Amino acid sequence: AVTATTIPQQPTKPIMNSTVTPVDIENDGPLFPCSLISPEIISILPTDYTIRPLRRSDYKRGYLDVLRVLTTVGEIAEDQWNQRYDWIASRNDEYYMLVVCDGQDNIVGTGSLIVERKFIHSLGMVGHIEDIAVEKNQQGKKLGLRIIQALDFVAEKVGCYKSILDCSEANEGFYVKCGFKRAGLEMAHYY
Ligand code: ACO
Repeated sequence: AVTATTIPQQPTKPIMNSTVTPVDIENDGPLFPCSLISPEIISILPTDYTIRPLRRSDYKRGYLDVLRVLTTVGEIAEDQWNQRYDWIASRNDEYYMLVVCDGQDNIVGTGSLIVERKFIHSLGMVGHIEDIAVEKNQQGKKLGLRIIQALDFVAEKVGCYKSILDCSEANEGFYVKCGFKRAGLEMAHYY
């Protein structure tokens, strides 16, 4: 099991281009506390890679492009991103989205944990693992596994009694390698 030791420092290079204003920099903290990122997972990533909470400026680091390996994303303008990011950030005890960056500070992987608060199981909390994606040319380096381990660490630390996810048959083997087991059946209504 991955355990907490120290609060990791999360140096992230500011984006140096003319479109970055002082307001952007002020508004660009981590989505959730860096103390929820497992120091052990950071230490076993490939050299120069890091894993950290999502930031508002990640729009410019290719966050949406990484998600395109998963499904359609659509054309999302920066102001639309900012609006959605701010909505999510106002619920940062519920939305835990993290990114893996390579040595050039490009985003190469991502995953999300959404924490559901229940009445059952004595006010239990369930983690929903969503939108796991690793850029095509970065797959096979255990980054997907590290993302899941990092989300598991968050889920356990914030008090979830379990985490669940839906996936295709093609990805079942990946999640089994991450320690998940088949439980139940997904059903859907599309609107
Ligand atoms: N089937 C079986 N085993 C797999 C698969 C698979 N589809 N993918 C990876 N593995 C195995 C690897 O071989 C490795 O095994 P090993 O420890 O024996 O070497 C182990 O799982 C860990 O693999 P990683 O290198 O960590 O996997 P990767 O970084 O390539 O990420 C991922 C896997 C996230 C599925 C990636 O391929 C991806 O982004 N795919 C496209 C998007 C996608 O399908 N995301 C999942 C959607 S489901 C959801 O989001 C809840």
